[in-house]
Amino acid sequence: MLQSMQIEGGYPLVGEINISGAKNLALPAMVTTLLTEDEIILNNVPDLSDVHSLLGLLEYLGCDINIDKVNSKLILKTTNIKYTEAPYDFVRKMRATILVLGPMVARFGAASVSFPGGCAIGVRAIDLHIKALQLLGAEVTMDNGFINVCAPNGLKGCEITFPIITVTGTENSIMAAVLAKGTTKLINAALEPEVEALCNLLNSMGAKITGQGTSIINIEGVEKLHGTTFDIIPDRIEAGTYAIASAITHGKLFLKNCIYKHLALFFNTLKLNGISIEEKQNGVMVENNNDKINPINIRTAPYPGFATDLQAQYMALMAISGGTSLITETLFENRFMHVSELNRMGANITIKGNTATVKGVNKLSGAQVMATDLRASASLILAGLFANGTTTVNRLYHIDRGYESIDKKLQQCGAHIKRISI
Ligand code: EPU
Repeated sequence: MLQSMQIEGGYPLVGEINISGAKNLALPAMVTTLLTEDEIILNNVPDLSDVHSLLGLLEYLGCDINIDKVNSKLILKTTNIKYTEAPYDFVRKMRATILVLGPMVARFGAASVSFPGGCAIGVRAIDLHIKALQLLGAEVTMDNGFINVCAPNGLKGCEITFPIITVTGTENSIMAAVLAKGTTKLINAALEPEVEALCNLLNSMGAKITGQGTSIINIEGVEKLHGTTFDIIPDRIEAGTYAIASAITHGKLFLKNCIYKHLALFFNTLKLNGISIEEKQNGVMVENNNDKINPINIRTAPYPGFATDLQAQYMALMAISGGTSLITETLFENRFMHVSELNRMGANITIKGNTATVKGVNKLSGAQVMATDLRASASLILAGLFANGTTTVNRLYHIDRGYESIDKKLQQCGAHIKRISI
């Protein structure tokens, strides 16, 4: 049965929201089980449909899985592997399954993944993942819709220069290089906190990685990796989304566990918007006491720039600002699909090329809207929290890919929001 989210707008959110573990670290962290026969124990894993999709693939490949739901703990053990091929049915649900290529070829000498193809937010090529694996000495072929990577004699350290920054491309290369012979140097590597944390996890398994968190990462290959226990860092995109929920409803929310520095530029932007942001010992307080929100232009960029994963949500806030703002999306060519839905609610947004011109309006009105991808869904929920009347966000399955219990977390702070089945 399809689910929708029904929101009665106009209630300020007040209270505390606990930020869950980061989806975009949990996924690569789970895949590290393919690099060792020992147990990998992950704490603070969010309960998301993307996590379950990847667990489905890992189980198919031959991984033993134990889930301790109460403690958000995952115990993974891949003593051996049954298949080295990720079939289409798993890959089509989630592009991040491409992350199994690097570790599988590193440990087992072979890996095939069904070609992920396009996705809602853009074409999202994987040429840089393939190029990196080839530089590491793997042979890559494509047939029947599969990418086949093979390195029967193991991978060899090398120098890889990324022409553009790619998050999962960097992660795949690192997970391939940790078991390669010799040293690998990644140049123009992704700086995202999730990439840095993945390197820390791999080092706790016995890998020798230095430079994580900078654009040059060195990986000295080791023979074998061992088991570990690791805590997933808080989800900065979830935290940013709830910060906007506080701002857009003129509320006051404490984002428990949110790491301020992971959102430094975003929080500085909100401060310029007139929102009060206060870093506390165990999180961040976000409060909006102003009648009007200042319009500020933003341009998405890889970390530490303005995250593309917060662009749609920020647009909902700018839709009700006291002026005109320009929002430029530089990473994905099709990440403005929320615009037509926000306009249905009364927003005044036009698009030219990769820039949206957002003219702030005084009110939005509830409507039936369609979620097109994960972050677009969040944007529509935020708009619904502000709008007069009832907003129904359809195609809710997108939101459950990346936000743990979003309805419950918002309800606890005073939102009038509920899931309905249609
Ligand atoms: N690109 C290429 N070739 C490649 C790889 C990437 O041309 O081989 C291009 C992409 O088309 C895009 C740009 O490089 O224009 C950056 O893409 P990137 O590879 O960094 O994206 P990703 O690794 O596929 C991760 C997140 C996304 C997030 C982006 C950008 C995970 C699992 N996914 O995707 O998260 O938007 O980085 O920060 O980490 C989300 O959580 O909603 C989400 C989409």
